[in-house]
Amino acid sequence: MSSENKSKIFVARNIPDAGLDLIRGACDADIWLEPLPPSRDVLLEAIAGCEGVISLLTERVDSEFFEAAGQQLKVVSNYAVGFNNIDVAEATRRGIRVGNTPGVLTDATADMAFTLLIATARRIVEAADYVRNGEWKTWEPRGHIGMDLCNKTIGIVGMGRIGFAMAKRCRGGWGMDVLYHDQFQNEDAETQLAARRVDLDTLLSESDFVSVHVDLNETTTGMFDAGAFERMKSTAIFINSARGPLHVGQDLFDALASGKIFAAGLDVTDPEPILDNDPLLSLPNCLVVPHIASGTVSSRNGMAEIAANNLLAGLADQPLPCWVNPEVDGSP
Ligand code: GLV
Ligand code: GLV
Repeated sequence: MSSENKSKIFVARNIPDAGLDLIRGACDADIWLEPLPPSRDVLLEAIAGCEGVISLLTERVDSEFFEAAGQQLKVVSNYAVGFNNIDVAEATRRGIRVGNTPGVLTDATADMAFTLLIATARRIVEAADYVRNGEWKTWEPRGHIGMDLCNKTIGIVGMGRIGFAMAKRCRGGWGMDVLYHDQFQNEDAETQLAARRVDLDTLLSESDFVSVHVDLNETTTGMFDAGAFERMKSTAIFINSARGPLHVGQDLFDALASGKIFAAGLDVTDPEPILDNDPLLSLPNCLVVPHIASGTVSSRNGMAEIAANNLLAGLADQPLPCWVNPEVDGSP
């Protein structure tokens, strides 16, 4: 087939070959290979005339995007499980299918949440820096004291797949009691992990560690603010592997700097990347990593395959394997 007969598509970053290999032969694909995302202008130009786009969290997919692409756009396949970068209601109104990549990154993300928890509880990065800086002079009976993990209480805010996987690690490995806050009851969590569903205030005040796994929307934005940190124990650790705007940066800084809470571990920040001069980076009890929770071989390959299959299904007017807006009519 000549490229004129193939659907024109744009891939907004160099995703793993597990996905690109499925797309290259089947489509007239323009793949953005630069390490940094395309600028807005370049993006809007690149998607003009496309039938499909693979987007990342860095691409804002909104009316302007849809207008720039044109009427023929059929599918936007997000290379992420979250899709807060996409105006899904607007996509649906225009009959454009939207896909995401759930499931394959559940364990990797829960592993990252747990890594941040154990690393902050045991002050690992601080301690490693101490060695690297030549400060290790003797074994200190009162030095580098961290928090115990066994038999503590983990508070899970958002008991979806990732929240469940985090709770399972905490329960199975460390015998923690599990509290959760969610708009829905999670029976598996209650029967398998003896999890107890509580209101947010109870969770904040009774948990030793709080890990957030909700999606970002109008009701969850800023839910971890001064009031929330105020309710937490002074020994508490806050873990965010979901989305940066779920916490208020200044309030988190104040809580950490004043000892209202013990530590925080963040895989996500607001904005991303975090600014070089963000005060959180000056704190020894705040550990920040650059949004790498899904960064394992099987997760990233799995995400690439799902994103490619969502794209190809959308081009063929078929139901997407992981479909965010199935209310879009399945018929062409
Ligand atoms: C990453 O943050 C994702 O939503 O996949
Ligand atoms: C998404 O929420 C997942 O758990 O994969």
